[in-house]
Amino acid sequence: MIPVCREGVRMNIDEQPGSRSVLITGASGEIGHGLIKGLRVHDDIHIVATDLKELPEDTHGLCDEVHVGDVCDASLMQQLIAMHEVTEIYHLAALLSSRAEHVPEVAHEVNVGGTFNLLKLSASHSASFGRPVRFILPSTIAVYGMSSLAQKQSVGAVSEGDCNEPRTMYGCNKLYCEHLGRYYSRHYRSLAEDRGTTMIDFRCLRLPGIIAAETKPTGGTSDFVPEMLHAAASGMPYASFVREDTRIPWMTMPECIDSMLQIGRADEGSLKHSVYNVSSFSASAGEVADMVRASFPGAQIEFTPDVDRQAIVDSWPEDVDVSSAHDDWGFSPRWGHEEAFSQYIIPSIRTHYTQA
Ligand code: SER
Repeated sequence: MIPVCREGVRMNIDEQPGSRSVLITGASGEIGHGLIKGLRVHDDIHIVATDLKELPEDTHGLCDEVHVGDVCDASLMQQLIAMHEVTEIYHLAALLSSRAEHVPEVAHEVNVGGTFNLLKLSASHSASFGRPVRFILPSTIAVYGMSSLAQKQSVGAVSEGDCNEPRTMYGCNKLYCEHLGRYYSRHYRSLAEDRGTTMIDFRCLRLPGIIAAETKPTGGTSDFVPEMLHAAASGMPYASFVREDTRIPWMTMPECIDSMLQIGRADEGSLKHSVYNVSSFSASAGEVADMVRASFPGAQIEFTPDVDRQAIVDSWPEDVDVSSAHDDWGFSPRWGHEEAFSQYIIPSIRTHYTQA
């Protein structure tokens, strides 16, 4: 099942002695909570979570250990990986696209430096323990870069190898980290005499805009849809920072968590690629606004585009081709556009604000 990376040496994490020990970075972010909940259903998994911020109490309670710290702190990360004999890393810590455009050098340090640290430490950990480390990285539609709106509107669903010319620091960072992960898993120190049998099993998902009912994103440029929904559900007016016709791919948070767990569990032999697009539906800001108004009749939504943030979203594709994820590890969206709203987003967001 599992990986390995070089010289035909094949090992399987599930057949190794000892149970699974998972390190989650960026654990107090939007994806962290759902992921920890999803992993916790397996009692035999040891969960170590880390973030710059303290975790919310309910998430904290699901972890075996929580460390407040910086993913760029190599000695802390090394200590966590070695002390807990980590077998899997979900590396979620990152500055998203809008935030990163304010502080691009900091974004590079965190997004690239943090990933590089963890890959390097995973390689030496796997060499000293003789066990593979599975490394799961969320990437993004921001790795794509459309040269014009006309290209965006005519190109259709993009495949993983298409249009890889990101406009943002975040997109550049993630695209490079995808390559770094592939390098560490397949070609690490390929000319070194003493290269040993380092075993990194790297898997990466290019996530679309994510819509969560229980949490609000911060610092992203796909935030216009979740912000619109949360504003309507809480009776607040909303001014969208992109035009009505702005279209990108989306998925709900439960589907995002499912797909991360699914690729984390996938049989290595079936994975022909290290990077996979995932998405459930494609929708414009205007189409979402119509659904929101239908569910929250008093919703006040206007469109006052911000030129710079608009340009970022205009560089992202309208849709992505998910056929490789479907063929290799069985990815299939749980909901289409309408079902996502009727079965998850609207009921869950109502419940969230009723209970709040
Ligand atoms: N949600 C991310 C962002 O807006 C894109 O994947 O930065």
